[in-house]
Amino acid sequence: MFYIKITYANRINKLPGYIFAEIEQLLSEKKKEGIDIIPLGIGDPDLTTPDVIIKELIKQVKIPENQNYPSSKGEQDFREAVQRWYKVRFNLNFDANSEVTGLIGGKEGIANIARVFVNPGDIVLCPNPGYPVYENGGTTLCDGKIYTMPLLKENNFLPDFEVIKAEILKKAKLMYINYPNNPTGAITTKKFLKEAADIAEDYNIIIVHDNPYSEFTYEDYIAPSLLQIDQNHIEINSSSKMFCMTGFRCGWAVGDKDIIGGLRKVKSHIDSGCPVFIQKAVIRGLKEYKSSEKPNIVKDNVKIYEKRRDVLVEGLNNIGWNTDMPKATLYVWTHIPEGETNSMEFIKKLIDVGVVLTPGTGFGIYGEGFVRFALTQPVERINEALERIDMVIN
Ligand SMILES: Cc1ncc(COP(=O)(O)O)c(C=O)c1O
Repeated sequence: MFYIKITYANRINKLPGYIFAEIEQLLSEKKKEGIDIIPLGIGDPDLTTPDVIIKELIKQVKIPENQNYPSSKGEQDFREAVQRWYKVRFNLNFDANSEVTGLIGGKEGIANIARVFVNPGDIVLCPNPGYPVYENGGTTLCDGKIYTMPLLKENNFLPDFEVIKAEILKKAKLMYINYPNNPTGAITTKKFLKEAADIAEDYNIIIVHDNPYSEFTYEDYIAPSLLQIDQNHIEINSSSKMFCMTGFRCGWAVGDKDIIGGLRKVKSHIDSGCPVFIQKAVIRGLKEYKSSEKPNIVKDNVKIYEKRRDVLVEGLNNIGWNTDMPKATLYVWTHIPEGETNSMEFIKKLIDVGVVLTPGTGFGIYGEGFVRFALTQPVERINEALERIDMVIN
């Protein structure tokens, strides 16, 4: 007999419902009807982890001491590999002992960094549309207050700091930013990062730069690190997208030693780190970097996504759906076609023909009117999706 009255903490009740549950329900109905589904919704790379990394993983998992508890801050050689990566990739020097920490994927670091700094009622500046963890797993679960920084097309999906009132900035503890950006595919400039760093300095705000798409860039664009502008902050990255390792859960954070120290302290009370053998495999991947240029294990995959991006964006424009070509990320973010008024309603029409996208509202209210394509299907399937979309919108 069930006799305990379940009462969730207030902060849990403040978490929003799961928009994707409705989509999953619709999808399972379509599958039952026998409709072939082309999933372009979730940002999980369909390409496999490079062979050199898998071979290393198999070797390392067999070593008995690699099967023991890891350290939540990351193994020494892992932190040194991240230190070296920052040197070759961004020409920055950090101390592996005090300015680097391992993470169980970037998501964990994004959520836990709020535990380090946010007292109940403190303001956290969150981009919207944005990766939902900034608002939910980070701010709300620490009883912080979300201040929405709209990312508008007319501002190239960069926040406009001038519209944020001084009294908000004075109460803000953290600011999350993310470039190359999910979901908009927008990129940043060193000038924008400097503006952010200046505001942060004036108002004593810590910037968390979430940078998991740093290597997912096209043509000659190279994504910068916030830490190239100002090392008083923290940057988070992971092997998830870089090496197609989303399921392995291995990331890292680099930055000011007191920020990293706080994060390590929180983590040491919560988790026991990413498995050692996975850290060793990621070290192998990071060692492929010999300069700021992407090594082949990254470049080859990025080329595949670039081709898919070209096929999708050109295809959409050919069928009359005006869409911009993103310079980075595995996403294409575009306004819903003319005549449509609501992202979710439009998504449902596409699900009827077996094409699954993410409604912009899945990333916050400023995502209304947009949808996100993830480039996680081969070119042939993207072409099939285009044919079906053509039937819906024309
Ligand atoms: C913007 C952004 N940040 C962080 C993450 C989390 O990545 P992971 O936890 O796999 O490192 C994702 C994953 O999709 C993302 O899109």
